[in-house]
This record gives sequence, C-alpha cells and structure tokens, in this order.
Amino acid sequence: MIPLSIPKIEGNESKYVLDCLNTGWISSAGSYVNQFEEMVANYAGAKYGVACMNGTAGLHIAQVLLGVTENDHVIAPNITFIATLNAIKYTGATPILIDVNADDWQMDLELLVNYLNDQTELRTTAAGTFSYDTTTNKRVRAIMPVHVLGNMGDMDSLVAIAKTYHLDIIEDAAEALGSTFENKHAGTFGKIGVFSFNGNKIISTGGGGVIVTDDEALAKRARHLTTQAKISAMDYIHDAIGYNYRLVNVLAAIGVAQMETFPEALKAKKAMDAFYRSELEGVGDIKFQEIPEGTNPNCWLFTFSTSRMRELLEYLNANGVQSRPFWMPMNQLEMFKDDRYITKNDVSASVYQNSISIPSSAGITQEQLETVVRIIRELYEM
Ligand SMILES: Cc1ncc(COP(=O)(O)O)c(C=O)c1O
Repeated sequence: MIPLSIPKIEGNESKYVLDCLNTGWISSAGSYVNQFEEMVANYAGAKYGVACMNGTAGLHIAQVLLGVTENDHVIAPNITFIATLNAIKYTGATPILIDVNADDWQMDLELLVNYLNDQTELRTTAAGTFSYDTTTNKRVRAIMPVHVLGNMGDMDSLVAIAKTYHLDIIEDAAEALGSTFENKHAGTFGKIGVFSFNGNKIISTGGGGVIVTDDEALAKRARHLTTQAKISAMDYIHDAIGYNYRLVNVLAAIGVAQMETFPEALKAKKAMDAFYRSELEGVGDIKFQEIPEGTNPNCWLFTFSTSRMRELLEYLNANGVQSRPFWMPMNQLEMFKDDRYITKNDVSASVYQNSISIPSSAGITQEQLETVVRIIRELYEM
C-alpha cells in the first residue's frame, strides 16, 4: 500500500532519543523540549514557543489563555478537522460556523463579515469594547482561522476584520508549518498560533504540538498551565486548574531531529504537489485546490475535487493507493448540528462530497507518485 502521509525519519532521531534514554531525561523536563520550542518559534518568526502533547491540547490552552468561557462564541470554519471544534467545546463556548470558499476551501470572509455586521453589535463595558451576538447576548471573543491543508486565505483581510470587530485571533496552523502569506508565517498573524506534529503532519514527533506567540505573558502562562499550574519548585502548591499537557523530552528529541531536516521535507512536498498538478491537470473533471495570491503553501496533503470521488476512493484503496475522503463538515456532525452555521449555498457539503486526499508523504518516491497518477488515470479512461 502506498501510504497517505507517513513521517520520514532519516536524520538524528534515533541518536537524540537514545540520548534521552541513556541520560534518563525521558519525561516532561529536559533540554530537547526547550530546544524544540525554540526551533519551531524561530522558524515561524515568533518570539516564543510552548510545546504541548498534541495540537488539540495546544488549541485548548490557547482558548484558556484568552479567557474563553461558556459565555462566549468562537468563530471557526465549517470545514476543519474536528480538533478545532473540540477545543472550543472544551471551554464550554459555543462555536459559530462559517462556510468556506469553493476554490481554496478556507473560511469565506464575506460570510464572516455578513455575520459580524448583521448578527453582532459592539458594546462598551468597563472591561472594554467587544462584539456581542445579538441573538444570544454572548460575547464573540475569538476567531479561529484554520489553514486547511497548509493553504492560507487572505490573512491581511482577516486581521483587519478581527480588528474592526475587536476579536482575538487564534490560528489553527496545525497543518501549516512552512506556509506563509505575504512572506509572514502561518501562526503569527494573531495572538496565538498552534502547530501539530501528529504522525501525518509535514514533520512529526509521533504526537505533539507547539503554541507560538509574541506575547511573553501569554507564553509564560501557557507554560504554567500546561504543567499543572505549580507555583513552587519545592512544594505542591498550585494557583489554577492546570493541565498535564507538556510534551515529553523523548518526543521533543524526535522533533529536534525532524526540524533539522524540515527544509528537505518542505522541498519534497512542493515537488510532490507540482508533479500531481502537472500530471493530473485535465484528467476527468479533476479540480485542484486553488492557492490565493500571496500564499506560499507547504503543500502538506494533496487533495482535489472530482464528481467521481467515491468511485475513485474505492478504486485507489483497492489498488494499493491509500486515499481518504475529506472531513465531514462540522455542521453535519451530531455534536455541532445545533450550532449556528453561516452559509449561502452550503459550499462545505459539496467540498466534502467531491474531495479526495491522495498519498503525499515527504518520503514518497518518484515511482510511487507515478503509480498513483497511473491508477487515477486508469479509472477515468475506463
Ligand atoms: C486542522 C487541524 N487542527 C487540529 C489538529 C489537531 O492536532 P493533533 O492531532 O496534534 O492534536 C489537526 C491534526 O491532527 C488538524 O489537522
């Protein structure tokens, strides 16, 4: 089977892991964790990085850091991996789901503005001026753009919208290490960005995440909350409900090695993307995800649309090519079906019905790429 997206482990991973094992530094304290945080933050151009067990934990902590509670709404796109929505729900907040663009599958900013214009109002209290949803009277506290598949929408417009409506931005940059918009890295447009290092990501720690921010106080608080909010080095005294979310040294060791080879992984992804685009152009009714002007994506997972998605999915998997459908839109899932969904034509539903992801590992060989293309073409030529 040609796998969908697996890690490439060809650098210093085993050396660094062995170092942890030999020195006994396998747990949540250890130099690799600090080094990994620094490497990720530096790469993204952020001042601080805080490593977590996984991206989901990072997204959860991001909400907690900004004070999101059950009295709030958080805006998110309707097409995303479920972790985005779970992180919102962990705080008790209610998501507002926004439909996506038909071409790049990112949050539809026109619909976002429609919602903010028509269904919220700015109110000033002693705490400041904020947007409130006029139906629920809840504060609309934050917006979570998701850089779907490592692609990025128009972040300049999104930042301007957030400013106008007094919203914080938490970027779900789980899939977007290496992606930029106007030469600015994903995860650095708002107060907080979160990367994932899950096994299927562009580089991996097995499981892991890093929160990035330029705000020293937020970074300190993130480190505090992810380590059980302990205030004394000696005594077990804690000043908040904390979390056991810190990444362990042995996994961070893998991360350090993966970061060392990241430029190669990024290059391989871009070559894979270029190959698929040139070889699948004009095959059947295949339509590629569009890349907005100004975006330089990391080309994490090659995904395209076709009306024959289900048929192709079965054919590829039956012929040794691991392929997957796209995420079911959030509004179609039982847990979120009662949450507000802002849409005109339910683009999410058609993106879901027609999109398929194909093998995209950083270590995919030319022979494997050619096999994938040949099998796809076969179906359309039958
Ligand atoms: C868009 C998105 N958000 C969040 C996550 C959660 O990250 P993790 O699996 O590291 O918890 C992922 C990936 O798994 C993702 O793709």
